[in-house]
Amino acid sequence: MNSKTPNPLTRVVLVTGGAGYIGSHVCKCLHAAGFLPVVLDNFSQGHRSAVRWGPLIEAAIDGAKAVAQAIRQYKPIGVIHLASSINVRDSIRDPLFYYENNVIATLRLLEILRGEGVRHFVFSSSAAVYGQPKTLPIHEDHEKMPLHPYGKSKLIVEEVLRDLSAAHGVRFAALRYFNAAGADPDGEIGEAHNPETHLIPLAILSALGKRGPFKIFGRDFPTADGTAVRDYIHVTDLAEAHLAALLWILREDQNLTLNLGTGQGYSVQQVLDEVGRIVGKAVPVEEGARVPEDPTALVADPTRANSVLGWEPRYSDLPTIIETALAWHDKSLCQKT
Ligand code: UFG
Repeated sequence: MNSKTPNPLTRVVLVTGGAGYIGSHVCKCLHAAGFLPVVLDNFSQGHRSAVRWGPLIEAAIDGAKAVAQAIRQYKPIGVIHLASSINVRDSIRDPLFYYENNVIATLRLLEILRGEGVRHFVFSSSAAVYGQPKTLPIHEDHEKMPLHPYGKSKLIVEEVLRDLSAAHGVRFAALRYFNAAGADPDGEIGEAHNPETHLIPLAILSALGKRGPFKIFGRDFPTADGTAVRDYIHVTDLAEAHLAALLWILREDQNLTLNLGTGQGYSVQQVLDEVGRIVGKAVPVEEGARVPEDPTALVADPTRANSVLGWEPRYSDLPTIIETALAWHDKSLCQKT
């Protein structure tokens, strides 16, 4: 058997964006559970070094010929769709780009999957669909009022999936991530966005003196210390939820919409204090203006994910998130020097 022919007993999952931060952790998790992850990625964001656990199809998600051919060759049991543009602030500056990349390209992918008879689809959605929540923690049934094109793009795809389910029997899981953070506990992969915009990696790099001071976007939120509150979920816990959700929709032949968070919120200041403690050096900070589209607090009610999937975060306490992220940054900084 050549390396391009999967063992017929191995179940294959097509992972779009499998070379990215969350995607590579999903692939590692699939492989550890005995599945073959086939990565579909065009490297607009991802990294070749993160594709380690299965074959790579280097193509855009709407590349009809390449995607259809991959499906015929590998016969995946389902698709985990993570390829998307993720920067909230960019989506406000360039909405058309976000709707093109996150909505139109996804519709084309869904059309290809329909033509090839692939019905099971796990979708990377976001807590951003809720906008500025009225109640905390946020239950899945909370009203959806996204504040920016990124959040809207995720909500639109969720709605499309509901229609496809009714019309064509598609079964989907929409996973609304809260703040993905941390890195593979084995140190093999981690977060490497370019440019990096997320709180934890930026705070670590500032504390290590690898960049200037960390700019706090606003101290005038109505929270205990004035900084915004988020629910940080370890990327390995997120990855495990993807596999559990895929197996659930395959087994139950139903759809699933889930929050993926811990139920525990931390303010920006609390995270900075914890990064300073773990790195052993305070994070240098400067004060910046509040971003109008930044919600005050996003904290998940994760009850449904727990009761339906039996999913429970294992690595999502704040020290473990920061320690695994720091270990990954230490390793990648060593490799660069
Ligand atoms: N923050 C700063 N300074 C920075 C970067 C971030 O103060 O330089 C603050 C943000 O304003 C926010 C918190 O730190 O209050 C977390 O910021 P992140 O950029 O890490 O994450 P966001 O909450 O802004 O956005 C994340 C994902 C989005 C997703 C959203 C949904 O990046 O893709 O969570 O909850 F839409």
